[in-house]
Amino acid sequence: MGDRLLFLKLWWRAPLKIAAWSPSSAAMGRGIAQHVDPRSPYPVLELGGGTGSVTQALLEIGVAPSRLYVIEREPALCEVLRRRFPGVTVMEGDAAHLRALLAAHEVFRLSAVVSTLPIIWFAPENKRHIIEQAFDLMGDGGPFLQLTNQFRSPIEAKRLGLRGRMIEFVWRNLPPSFVWRYERPEAPSATLA
Ligand SMILES: C[S@@+](CC[C@H](N)C(=O)[O-])C[C@H]1O[C@@H](n2cnc3c(N)ncnc32)[C@H](O)[C@@H]1O
Repeated sequence: MGDRLLFLKLWWRAPLKIAAWSPSSAAMGRGIAQHVDPRSPYPVLELGGGTGSVTQALLEIGVAPSRLYVIEREPALCEVLRRRFPGVTVMEGDAAHLRALLAAHEVFRLSAVVSTLPIIWFAPENKRHIIEQAFDLMGDGGPFLQLTNQFRSPIEAKRLGLRGRMIEFVWRNLPPSFVWRYERPEAPSATLA
């Protein structure tokens, strides 16, 4: 209950930064985490850890704590995450610096990125910066998984050279929300003369 109150307090102070007055439900956590392959060889990056609903679900589907990296901007929420998930690497900072934050832990390759950032409200350049770093580390297939409670893609896929589709609707969440999956189509290989 304490963590929920903290979340509510932070939202009250800066609603656009936190973007939700309550953490995602367990159903929502599972709804997004189930699209990650826990057997992939590289680490998984979570963006916007909050109090850990999605972190918990990623661990439950079998992602090893040592292969899970979480970026969260709010120091108080980082404390909650570190207390709840001692084996997980929690990085305090802005998702826009994801490459540098991961490099500090010698992570240069990712299997998947799972984001509950309020990315729909981010400035286009900021969005592009996050997406480009994520795909450079994952490779074209991604997946970049994004939660949203809006009825449209939270990322302008075409403009950013991505392919996106809505893959999940979770109604057992307040508010009910959608999961989008993005990948970057491979550039056509040059034909040899
Ligand atoms: C909608 S909440 C989701 C929290 C949690 N994952 C959940 O599902 O309950 C978004 C989270 O993203 C964090 N956040 C927002 N902008 C961020 C940024 N630029 N970099 C890192 N974290 C950010 C907020 O502090 C907040 O914890």
